[in-house]
Formats: sequence, structure tokens, C-alpha cells
Amino acid sequence: MSLTLNQYIEEIISLKKERDAIILAHNYQLPEVQDVADFIGDSLALSRKAEKTNAKNIIFCGVHFMAETASIICPDKDVFIPDINAGCSLASSINCSELINWKKDHPDAIVVSYVNTSAEVKALSDYCCTSSNAVKVVNSISPDNEILFLPDMFLGSYVSEITKRKNMFIWPGECHVHAGIRADDINKMMKDYRNAEFLVHPECSCTSSTMYHMSKGDLLNEGHILSTEGMMERAKNSSKTDFIVATETGILYRMQKENPTKNFIPIKKDAICQYMKKITIDKVYNSLVNNVYKVRVPKATADKARYAIERMLSIG
Ligand code: 13P
Ligand code: SF4
Repeated sequence: MSLTLNQYIEEIISLKKERDAIILAHNYQLPEVQDVADFIGDSLALSRKAEKTNAKNIIFCGVHFMAETASIICPDKDVFIPDINAGCSLASSINCSELINWKKDHPDAIVVSYVNTSAEVKALSDYCCTSSNAVKVVNSISPDNEILFLPDMFLGSYVSEITKRKNMFIWPGECHVHAGIRADDINKMMKDYRNAEFLVHPECSCTSSTMYHMSKGDLLNEGHILSTEGMMERAKNSSKTDFIVATETGILYRMQKENPTKNFIPIKKDAICQYMKKITIDKVYNSLVNNVYKVRVPKATADKARYAIERMLSIG
């Protein structure tokens, strides 16, 4: 059945009540998907919301590893993802056998996995982390322990720079969207927008050069390296009116909506995650009507992965 956008929205609102369902949406989701969501946030905020909700069913509008994380945290709830093919290039950059082999070279190391990993990889990890708490998680580990940080090399270099950790080994993975946001993009924007504040996601390949510019005072206005929710908070609390946003462009819809008097300029208009955009309003509707696609993580894997996730949640 094909409906108009308004009809989809009305149906989804009534189906949510009928099915005792909550819709969680990541900051990169399409505008109309954000509009039907009960809660929008970054990976950490979505995990926390999943943990706290009383709803029986969670419709997770984001990519697969995020829905898997919600399902691991909430084994008594049913978690659905509207498109089972909503993957993540970064999560695909390391698999279990690669991690097992890496661990053989560093048998005593503590494994810190970014949340953008499969449940199986999390199950082999000591700690999970997100872009908003990676520094805190690494700082909570004794400086005497070697750390294997995976899979994002740009986030990893940022964390090692901030924590000044010398014994941290970083997996050479990347997100194709953020790797495409380069030092040249920052340099050009710095010339074109001298009064803007820069909000940069730590998965970007320009993270190191942004830190360099920040340390040299080249960014006339402030630069901030933040998770997507950190960017939202900064956009709200900053006294500046112009912001250059270096991340996936989906976040601009919410930023503009919540801050109508400010200007948000994407650093790269084509920084679009095709996986996030697989979740469309008709698929959200279909998910509620037909109970698809249920996210299933084998219990043994979920139990081990939950340990790494809960250790992260207890740190912050
Ligand atoms: P955040 O946790 O900052 O929202 O990042 C998730 C992500 O996939 C970024 O590409
Ligand atoms: Fe994965 Fe990159 Fe898409 Fe985020 S933007 S979900 S890291 S592919």
C-alpha cells in the first residue's frame, strides 16, 4: 500500500501506541524519519534511551550495529530495524578473525571497540566506547596496559593525542563518509568563513589537521571535535551564529530546526551515508505493520558483548 507522507505519519503515530513501540532515530536520519521519532540522538544517547524505555518494542532507525547494541542491552524487548541492509562501512572494516589474530600479537592488551562494530567483535572486546566517551573510557584504563583500539583510525589518533597514551595500537579502519572530509576541506572553509565556529566529528580524516589549527590558533573562531550529540549541544549553547559542520549532512535538519536563528553550513554537501538513508518512512511503517526486521543476536554473543557495553555505560 502506498500512502502520502502525511498518511504515513498519522498511521505510524497510531501504530506506535497499538504496538507499545518507541521509535529511536540517529541524528543522520532523513527529516521525515526524525519527525516521527520519540527520541533522536547519537550512538550513546540512543543506547541509554533503549536501556531506560518501558516500551515493549523498539523501532530502531539507524544502522545495524546500533540496533544490535539496543537489542543486546534490552534482551527482554523486541528491537526492529526497518531495513536489514542498513550497514556501516566502518563496522565492516574489522571482523572476528582479524581481531583474534591482532590479539595474538598483543596477548595482554585491553581491547577497546568503538560502538561501530558487530556484536561478535564487541563480544571479543573488554570495553566498548562511542565518540562521546572514547577519551573517558581510555583514561579509565591503567596506563601500564597496552590498548588495542578499533576500528576507526581517525578517532583512535584523536584519542591517543588527547590522552597522550603511547601504548595504544590503532586498527586502520575508516568510515568512507568521514574519511572523505579532508584537511583541504577545513583549510578552504577556514578562508571562506572566517567568523564561523567549526564542529568536527572525530571520525573525519581532517581531525588531526583541525587539532593542529586549534593548537596554533589558526581557527579564528573556535573549533570543536565532538560526537553528533556534542555538536547539537554546542550549536545550542554557543553565542556564535555561523557554524561549519563536518559530519554527515543529516544532522543539519535537526540543528536548523532546533536553532532557527543560526546558520549551519555543511563542510561537504555530499557527505551522505547511504546506509543511514536506507531507512525511509514507508519502511518504518512496514516495520510496525509486519514486525520486521527483528534484530537477533545469539545469547552467548550478546552476553559477552553486553559486558563490554555495560562497562562503557558505567564510565559515562
Ligand atoms: P555518533 O555516536 O557521534 O552519533 O556517531 C555515530 C556514527 O556512526 C558517526 O558516523
Ligand atoms: Fe557508518 Fe560512516 Fe555511516 Fe556512520 S556515517 S553509519 S560510520 S558508514
